[in-house]
Amino acid sequence: MANVAVLASGSGSNFQAIAEALADPGRNPRGHRVVLLVCDKPGAGCLDRATRLGIASVVVPYGPGRTPEVRRVAETAMTSALETAGADLVVLAGFMRILTPLFVGRWKGRLVNIHPALLPRHPGAHGIADSFASNDKELGVTVHWVDEGVDTGAVIAQKSFPRTPGLSLAEAEAKIHEIEHDLYPATVLKLLEAHA
Ligand code: GRF
Repeated sequence: MANVAVLASGSGSNFQAIAEALADPGRNPRGHRVVLLVCDKPGAGCLDRATRLGIASVVVPYGPGRTPEVRRVAETAMTSALETAGADLVVLAGFMRILTPLFVGRWKGRLVNIHPALLPRHPGAHGIADSFASNDKELGVTVHWVDEGVDTGAVIAQKSFPRTPGLSLAEAEAKIHEIEHDLYPATVLKLLEAHA
């Protein structure tokens, strides 16, 4: 049985999909658990979801500015919360901060992310808009290990779909999120089983 912690900044729909998959004994017979949500944004929707799901949460607000010191303080607080919770796997799910080598080095090999595009194409904060605006014939989702770069870690799983004629951005977004909510829990469960 392994402990999962999720880092999120926003709505938390992927966090909820993972928590619900792990709460299903049919999918998770060994009882791996989501033990903690870490959020950097006070008032974010993911915190309400954690309350509804009965999962502990902690807010680690970053100080003003994007200075190395601000990041160091926040990352140290996050690592401390993750260690206290006994996290075995740290899952980034819409966590909108760039993590420094301090944090990545501490959790490397146990730190995964989801990106709403087919990496290595369209890394960065606007994966959906960038892939939609491209000439790519396929759109999709990537789950990857986190390394010191931005969306550069080794790919664990990808799922794509063809761009149909007339597909709107809203339709593409909806399809991408639907795939995320299927692919991320399934991939997390596979990783947990592989390391159990
Ligand atoms: C997802 O599209 C994810 O791929 C991206 O941020 C979004 C988070 O959505 N990294 P949610 O907060 O899980 O609803």
